[in-house]
This record gives sequence, C-alpha cells and structure tokens, in this order.
Amino acid sequence: MLLQHRTTLTQYLIEQRRRFPGSKGDFNALILDVALACKAIARAVAMGELGGLYGEHAAEAGGAINVQGETQKKLDVLSNELFIRMNEWGGHLAGMASEEMTDPYQIPANHPRGKYMLVFDPLDGSSNIDVNVSVGSIFSVLRAPQDAIDSGRDLIEKDFLQTGATQVAAGYALYGPTTMLVLTVGNGVVAFTLDPNLGEFMLTHSALKVPEDTQEFAINASNSRFWEPPIKRYVDECLAGKSGPRAKDFNMRWIASMVAEAHRILMRGGVFMYPRDNKDPSKAGRLRLLYEANPIGMIMEQAGGRASTGREPMLSVSPSGLHQRIGLVFGSKNEVERIERYHSEPTPREIDNPLFAERTLFRD
Ligand code: F6P
Repeated sequence: MLLQHRTTLTQYLIEQRRRFPGSKGDFNALILDVALACKAIARAVAMGELGGLYGEHAAEAGGAINVQGETQKKLDVLSNELFIRMNEWGGHLAGMASEEMTDPYQIPANHPRGKYMLVFDPLDGSSNIDVNVSVGSIFSVLRAPQDAIDSGRDLIEKDFLQTGATQVAAGYALYGPTTMLVLTVGNGVVAFTLDPNLGEFMLTHSALKVPEDTQEFAINASNSRFWEPPIKRYVDECLAGKSGPRAKDFNMRWIASMVAEAHRILMRGGVFMYPRDNKDPSKAGRLRLLYEANPIGMIMEQAGGRASTGREPMLSVSPSGLHQRIGLVFGSKNEVERIERYHSEPTPREIDNPLFAERTLFRD
C-alpha cells in the first residue's frame, strides 16, 4: 500500500484524541515518546553483536543484578535508560517504574511533572537477546493519584498499586523480523509496523481480535513437576489430543519471550500459561503483575481474549508490590475460561483419572 494511503501512529493518536475534546495532547505526546524509545531499542537490538551490546552488564558499571535477582544484560540497561531519557522531560509524567529499578523513578527537578505514570519492562525475554530471537518492550500507562498531580510530590510505591482495570493504555513493541508496536487506548487493539526507511510506525492491523478457540498452547513444560493439579489436568488433556477428552490435537510453542508469545496469540489465537506453581514458595509466579501481566492482560481483554491468574481476572487483582509476581494465563477466551473452571472445580483424584495414569507424560 502506498504511503499516502497509510495511517501513521501520530495520525492514529490524533484521530483517537478527537473522541475527548477536552484533552490537551499530553497522552499522545507520551505515547510518541514511548514509541521513540522503542525505535531506539529496536535499532540497538538489530545491531546485534556489531553494536557491542551483547552480554552481561558489567558489575562495576552499576551492578549486574536487578531487583528481581536476575542478571542484567547490557541491552536491559540501555533499554531502561532509553525509556527514562525519552520520557522524563516531556511534562506528561508524574513518575515511572521499571523492572530494572527497585524504586519508583522520580522526574528530575529540572523537568515539569504531569498526570500520568509509566510502568515498563524495557526488554522482555532478555535471555533471548544474545541468540537473535525476538524480544520486546512492554508498557502500561496509569493515572497518578490526584494529590500527586496537584502537589507535584515524589511518587511512592503505593501510588502504582492500582488494579489493571484502571490502566489508561497499554502496549508493547516487538523486536522481531519486523519491529511492531501494539497499542490499546481502551478502544480495541491496533498494531503498527515500523517502516525502517521513514522511521515511522504505520498502522497495519486494526481492530485485532483473538480467536475464541484454539488448538495451540504455550507453557514451559520443564516445570511440569511443580504445576498445580488444574494446570496438569489442562495440559494433559491437550496432550491426549484426539483420543482424549478434548477430542482434538493440540500444538505446543515456547519462545521464552512472553511478548512474542502474546503477539502470536493476538495474531492467530492460542493460550499462554506461566501459572503459579510450587517451584519456589517465595514466588507466586514467574511474571510480574504491573509491567507484564496487566498490560498484556489489557491488550488481550481489549482484543476479546482473556487474562487471568487462573483464579480471578488479572485486571481485578489488587497489587501488593511494585515488583509482585503472579501466575498468568492469557489468550483465547474459551481456553482461559476452561482453565479457570479447572481451578474452581475440586481436584480430580488422580487415581480415578486415566489422564494421570501410568503413561502420562507429565506425571510427578
Ligand atoms: O521476563 C520474563 C520472561 O523472560 C518472559 O518473557 C518469558 O515468558 C519467561 O521469562 C521465560 O521463562 P523461562 O526461562 O522459564 O522459559
């Protein structure tokens, strides 16, 4: 399609803004700043080894372990820096929070403060960076508490502990064979593809819908011995295929970049599970609520899919901490609802259930 028939991200945002005649344009400017950070990260990722940015961040340059206890990669640190620098000056933000920073980031005194809060995972799936597999950035926009907007005070952790249902917008950038920006401003989900010649995000996918049914699931099966019974039951039923209770064959995928799995599911359906398990009792799950589960949850719900802890809708969870982990299941609505049903039903006694018999693959 010719350029003159395409819609740019800027155009899309301006057209959306016309729905709110009172709005001043802060939100649009914020999303464009986020998009600029994503373009810069996309370039850094695309340079690969040539950019000298593979490998771990040197401990002497600020510490190589983040608040999650995970080793920071050079590109994690750079991506975080890009998000901060592109977004701190514009006057749209009251503060930020990131996977890579223990505490909320305060907007420096030389910049004005605004009414939104930006929460992000600057580079998701970072174990895939050095092996040239897709990674991405995830972001969530929240409104700051009114007293913080009025006073311009520093933000505290509690300000960010809002349910996912209050998100103003959410999105992710995927650094794959093409760079894409997927966005919801609470009015459906759209996706833009980066035109590398113009450096512009072009609207390429409107009104994205996650198919309600699927025959594809994603889970890290190496954790199967730690799964809770409802997840074991669900996966076993999928694996049993045509001859099992589901009476159809399933396919399995695991990229280990949640953002890439979310994108595949948005494009063609599927279900993703990183459920609560008993691998490490101190962790309620692997993924983080505020900057992974909630934004992806909003995108899924806005696209007609579903996101859940297995026990309750993700977007209704009251957060207890900035870096809280949570069990996450999302994707095609009917499958997520089935998994929720399995969590609410009494655990079938393994002895009575042929799926948990001798030859099951995921037997303890
Ligand atoms: O940030 C978390 C993450 O990298 C996700 O993107 C991904 O789904 C998951 O971790 C991979 O986990 P595992 O190493 O257990 O496969």
